[in-house]
Amino acid sequence: MESIEKIKEHYRFTDEDVSLLMRLRPVMERYREEFVEEFYNFVKDFEETKRFLKDEATIKRHQDALKLWFMKLFSGTYGSHYLSELRKVGEVHVKVGLHTHYVNAAFHFVKIYIHGILHREIPDIKERARMLESVEKILDMNLDVFTNSYVEEEKKFFFSLKVESYLVQMANRFSHGLNLILVIGLVLLGFMVMGLFAYDILHILDGDIEKGLLSTLGSLLMLWVVIELMDTEIKHLRGGKFAIKVFISVALVAVIRKILVTSLSSEEVGAQLSLVAAVAVLGAIYWLIAKVER
Ligand code: HEM
Repeated sequence: MESIEKIKEHYRFTDEDVSLLMRLRPVMERYREEFVEEFYNFVKDFEETKRFLKDEATIKRHQDALKLWFMKLFSGTYGSHYLSELRKVGEVHVKVGLHTHYVNAAFHFVKIYIHGILHREIPDIKERARMLESVEKILDMNLDVFTNSYVEEEKKFFFSLKVESYLVQMANRFSHGLNLILVIGLVLLGFMVMGLFAYDILHILDGDIEKGLLSTLGSLLMLWVVIELMDTEIKHLRGGKFAIKVFISVALVAVIRKILVTSLSSEEVGAQLSLVAAVAVLGAIYWLIAKVER
């Protein structure tokens, strides 16, 4: 981690920059409220904003913190205390899980916004150009510190960063390989169910129409399950969400098939009732999951 002196040196941040930024303070004071309003107008279009700035209390806290941060850009005091405050803000963004892309995009807005103010408020072209340079420097230094928090977070490891990243990479590959084996297994299963379907149709031709029809219906349901499972697996391989619903539907279909088969023997009424109860429970769970997902 760099010290504030090193950061200033690397950005050629001089005493002249400090005094130019301080001269801008009364101008920026007038834009403090508008800045936050415009900032929020800008970030509201990000898909992720609602996830992070989720309720009135958080928004209020963020807006107050933003106003303070904005005014501190022009305070003229950029010592180690300023640096540790910036680091804290960076760490908060990392902690809430905000992607660094959104921070960069927000900084882009801040730059454009301050440029606009300077164009309106500072008529002297030379002076404005120097002020713009100082503003760019302090904003880039801020972004540098914020981005560094993400890098620091990535550096966290248990015994060795190299070994750990290798292990994670291997585990990733292994899980991808297992997923491919699963797809092959499902394809084989699909062929087998198609065989069962053909076998059940033969029952109809044998003359046992009722048994043949019910069993064929059962094997068709199984085929549908295999298709569902394959579909879910393919979506998962393409980066989709894990769909727990499909497992409930597999269990549902298995029980329904069992009901179809046992319905042929009239003595098993007790067993059938328990199967019907199982369908009701699984159905309710399926409905609840579907509701939550919607
Ligand atoms: C120029 C860019 C940004 C600046 C200067 C900034 C500034 C700040 C500051 C000063 C804090 C308070 C940190 C503390 O508690 O010490 C904060 C917190 C936070 N920021 Fe930002 N922010 C920026 C961009 C964003 C964006 C784009 C989002 C989301 C879309 C965001 C979401 C949050 C959240 C969720 C918190 C925590 C709020 C809380 O629970 O108190 N920030 N930010």
